[in-house]
Amino acid sequence: MKTQITHPRSVERLVTGIATSDGAGVKLTRVLTGKLQRRLDPYLMLDAFGSDDPDDYIAGFPDHPHRGFETITYMLAGRMRHRDSAGHEGLLQNGGVQWMTAGRGVIHSELPEQEDGVMEGFQLWLNLPAERKMIAPWYRDIGTEQIPEYTNEQGVTVRVIAGESNGITGAVNREVTEPLYLDIHLPAGAELSTEIPNTHNAFIYVYRGAAQVEGTTVDVQRMAILVNAEAADGLRVSAIQDTRLILVAGKPLHEEIVQYGPFVMNTQQQIHEALNDFRSGKLA
Ligand code: CO
Repeated sequence: MKTQITHPRSVERLVTGIATSDGAGVKLTRVLTGKLQRRLDPYLMLDAFGSDDPDDYIAGFPDHPHRGFETITYMLAGRMRHRDSAGHEGLLQNGGVQWMTAGRGVIHSELPEQEDGVMEGFQLWLNLPAERKMIAPWYRDIGTEQIPEYTNEQGVTVRVIAGESNGITGAVNREVTEPLYLDIHLPAGAELSTEIPNTHNAFIYVYRGAAQVEGTTVDVQRMAILVNAEAADGLRVSAIQDTRLILVAGKPLHEEIVQYGPFVMNTQQQIHEALNDFRSGKLA
């Protein structure tokens, strides 16, 4: 079931990530930073990590809290153990996704279960609407074999983590923000068309090769924010060399965003409450 795209989105701007570290010293590239939270509402953050040097990842992310949003971790390569205060535990590995709704709050750790080799993947933060920020925490491990996948007539493989693409429904579907999250593998010379609702903010991030979107080249390790337009119905992307990228889109909430580190709420007062609850042990 191939979707016909008549008004593909073009590139509004290209963004280079910022090298930083988080957790106990994990080196990563912050691609979606605070400055882009309005433009890419409902997404709050995208970190890309990738290294074959254990010093860059071995310390992991020891116990830390979250409140008010969801974290989506996609592990391309490597093994990471998750434990949280809601009693969830899981091993996230090669090609798998961990979808965690922090809701009213969890304390969790994400620690590597490998001492060498490559660790590569993404962590994406998806905001929750105001009325759902204090829901109970929720968690799901999605093994690589549970992620729906299809290959088009040009040999492009699409893994549908969330939302829908060319008639294939993803592993996770969400109301309100209606997230779309695809991992797209294009062989040299191939093209893919896929629908994106015109209500959504959307971007791609290229992690291998280089992509072409309506005449703009998106090089490796670049994010391309896609233009919003009333008539826009999707993305048409091609590749000159073997290329891999993620496509992420979602329906904006248009609500106030007040972030203090791992807490993302709507008001400063709610941030104070989150800090108080954390300090008095109410998140554990
Ligand atoms: Co975390």
